[in-house]
Amino acid sequence: MEQLAALCKRRGFIFPGSELYGGINGFWDYGPLGTELKRNVREAWWEAMVRLRDDVVGLDSAIIMHPRVWEASGHAEGFTDPMVDCRSCRRRFRVDQLYENLGIELEPGSVADMSLKLPADARCPVCGSRELTEPRAFNLMFRTFVGPVEDDSAAAYLRPETAQGIFVQFHNVLSVSRMKIPFGIAQIGKAFRNEINPRNYTFRSREFEQMELEYFIKPGTDEQWHDYWVEERLKWYRGIGLAGDHLHRYVYGKEELAHYASACVDITYDFPFGAQELEGVAARGDYDLRRHQEYSGKSLEYFDAESGRSYIPHVVEPSAGVDRIILALLCEAYREEWVPREAHAGSRPEIRPVEPGTNPPEGLEKRTVMGFSPRVAPIKVAVFPLLKNRPQLVEKSRRIFEELRQHWTAFWDITGAIGRRYRRQDEAGTPFCITVDFQTLDDDTVTVRDRDTMQQERFTVSELPRVLEQKGLP
Ligand code: GAP
Repeated sequence: MEQLAALCKRRGFIFPGSELYGGINGFWDYGPLGTELKRNVREAWWEAMVRLRDDVVGLDSAIIMHPRVWEASGHAEGFTDPMVDCRSCRRRFRVDQLYENLGIELEPGSVADMSLKLPADARCPVCGSRELTEPRAFNLMFRTFVGPVEDDSAAAYLRPETAQGIFVQFHNVLSVSRMKIPFGIAQIGKAFRNEINPRNYTFRSREFEQMELEYFIKPGTDEQWHDYWVEERLKWYRGIGLAGDHLHRYVYGKEELAHYASACVDITYDFPFGAQELEGVAARGDYDLRRHQEYSGKSLEYFDAESGRSYIPHVVEPSAGVDRIILALLCEAYREEWVPREAHAGSRPEIRPVEPGTNPPEGLEKRTVMGFSPRVAPIKVAVFPLLKNRPQLVEKSRRIFEELRQHWTAFWDITGAIGRRYRRQDEAGTPFCITVDFQTLDDDTVTVRDRDTMQQERFTVSELPRVLEQKGLP
């Protein structure tokens, strides 16, 4: 993780938030490459969940909502973590962290269970003191004030999930879209949680982004739709380049489920710090709409023209975190290899895995590659002139770049030795590099270098868009 974080900072995937002022724990900024990666992940999700489906429409709701929303949703009362204060150094911790430090494994879900007691032998993880308070509930929502007066009557919250915006607009969306059940409403947006221990790089942050679908169904079809969405979502993860054997499903036991839920499956990924949740897929019954109906006093029933009956729809919710998906993609993509110092057009270079603790054999050097799937790679294609002091090569490469950027996110680089430029693109995860050389001026062909095999092939300039598409650029 340290190597990955160093690369992410050096190459501009992820920076610590507010670094100029010493940083702020739990907040991260995405640099130029990270921003493109994130856009591609959002786009891939939107395409699969909304654009290519007849039964899902989009929403973009406000981050700050009426405070009653959070009473209805249960967040005002129940969205808490059990916390312990150290009386000696005055630091605050989640109780589960104390268990973890003692090597005691907790059942998933038990952190939310406020009956969690201090473990015997508990010590402050920072100063080692045994002077700890009993666990107390700490609400994770960020509080703010709407308007100039900062009192309780003006209090509001930054949303801790995007889902509630969907439930609150259920009726409006239903009436304008003329959807029939089953149908879904999808939303991508920021969410905020005042996490006590942000950690594992960006994995648990205080500001993050969610991609949530609320899929409204006929009561009684919950199991069938829940199974469907778990499979769909696993397929999607594989499609953006996460290896099947790094993905798992954690099926909640009956005793771990919220009282209103009939099923929940977490899709987890093998991070370097263990298998952890990327997404939860939950069958939530009619809990959310029923609560909003109760708290707002307005009917949220659906009239089923076929049966002539009205009912509150049930919902299946696949809820994913963009930042966790980015982190999984970065972990999956990162690799180090020994490769020939010089590669020649036509020949297939020898690529070997790095043997840790040893130097590369004669003629080989280490390279770091981000092996992103072309679907999510931040830059799809880079274009270079072989030499920057030959105006004909520079101009030609610029013209090719201008053409290709109409189709894909492209990058033009004229500085440094050509090998260095290839290495820079390897670290950025760019699947293809195109080089304009002296032969180009004779026969209008260029080399196309494949990031993974490092092999170079020649194609004419006019066939480049077709060739790149055939090679997998979306
Ligand atoms: N509406 C349901 C919901 O919000 P959740 O399991 O609390 O469920 C859904 O969150 C997803 O949001 C998680 O699977 C995770 O990907 C992401 N997420 C939650 N808390 C996060 C945090 N502190 N930092 C980064 N991502 C987070």
